[in-house]
Amino acid sequence: METKILKPSELAEAVSMLEQGGLVSFPTETVYGLGADAMQETAVKRVYQAKGRPSDNPLIVHVASIDEIKQYVENFPEKAQQLGEKFWPGPLTMIFPIKEGIFSTAVTGGLSTVAFRIPNNIETIRLINQFGHPLVGPSANTSGKPSPTTAEHVYHDLNGKIEGILDGGATTVGIESTVVDMTGELPMILRPGAITLEQLSEVVGTVLVDKHLVAEEETPKAPGMKYKHYSPNTPVYMIDWQKNNWQAAIDWAKATGQQYGLLANQEIIDQYGADAYACHTLSEKRNVSAAMTQLFAGLRALDESGLDSTVIFSETYPENGQGIAFMNRLKKASGQKYFDEKNL
Ligand code: TXA
Ligand code: MG
Repeated sequence: METKILKPSELAEAVSMLEQGGLVSFPTETVYGLGADAMQETAVKRVYQAKGRPSDNPLIVHVASIDEIKQYVENFPEKAQQLGEKFWPGPLTMIFPIKEGIFSTAVTGGLSTVAFRIPNNIETIRLINQFGHPLVGPSANTSGKPSPTTAEHVYHDLNGKIEGILDGGATTVGIESTVVDMTGELPMILRPGAITLEQLSEVVGTVLVDKHLVAEEETPKAPGMKYKHYSPNTPVYMIDWQKNNWQAAIDWAKATGQQYGLLANQEIIDQYGADAYACHTLSEKRNVSAAMTQLFAGLRALDESGLDSTVIFSETYPENGQGIAFMNRLKKASGQKYFDEKNL
């Protein structure tokens, strides 16, 4: 099967693929999703196969309105209403206790809760409305690879495994949504994203953070957070923003016969990129929210252009505000490795 890239004008074809149990990747503001009819168990099972994803890792259900969610959940708390009104459509996912018999265990991973999101992409909202059912949508990458932020990334990973890709251009946020568990007394962040703890707290007061996100050894509440993610084949070393030891890193790469790629803002690239095998600009000037949009695209690009003996050096940010989400993804990609000349 050759995967068909669909233009927004070909929405009807995407709808008919979904009706027949097919898989259609859809654009969102965060990353591309791998869509299937949430009500067709066999279609949902194919999603796991196509991605090579462990089946105990539940999927996010994408809907077009808050009213739809209310039909499916046991209880939709006032705080969810406030967060939904403020941030949806947008890069927020909320988890609720689910009514029995609505979704198969393929969707829930056997849990009694389901994650919902209203994505901020007009074509995808149209797709959901015209189709008339919610869509499951994990990120449309091969499991373990960086999430896709363009239709080309999806094609690269999943060509031949899915029926279609609705091409909506490059995504604007660049990393996956903030996941918040709404089933307890207080909302709890299970996965950091572009919407920060501070932004959530402004709307609903105290918000907790899953212990695992603070202490890596705890078992995370979001099953997906325990898997090694976003890992390119090329080793990634983080450059501590306080040490700024780019030159030492480059000297080490040269001395050990390794080619290096840079993932950094343009000013760093101008200063240090001359002998690099490739550079990917995260942002023009140092800016975490701009850098976020390019992180996964950059990891993919540098990984693909990498030759035999290569390393990637990446810019880092302080872990506050959106820096928490940026560093969460970069630490996974690098296996937590900082470049440290004293400790090679
Ligand atoms: O931005 C996004 O969220 C993208 C776009 C496509 O919407 N989707 C996405 O889906 O990142 P996925 O499947 O790659 O990540 C979903 C995360 C996983 O870490 C999963 O374990 C967690 O959400 N999750 C889903 N349902 C859950 C539940 N009922 N309880 C706890 N965690 C859940
Ligand atoms: Mg994913």
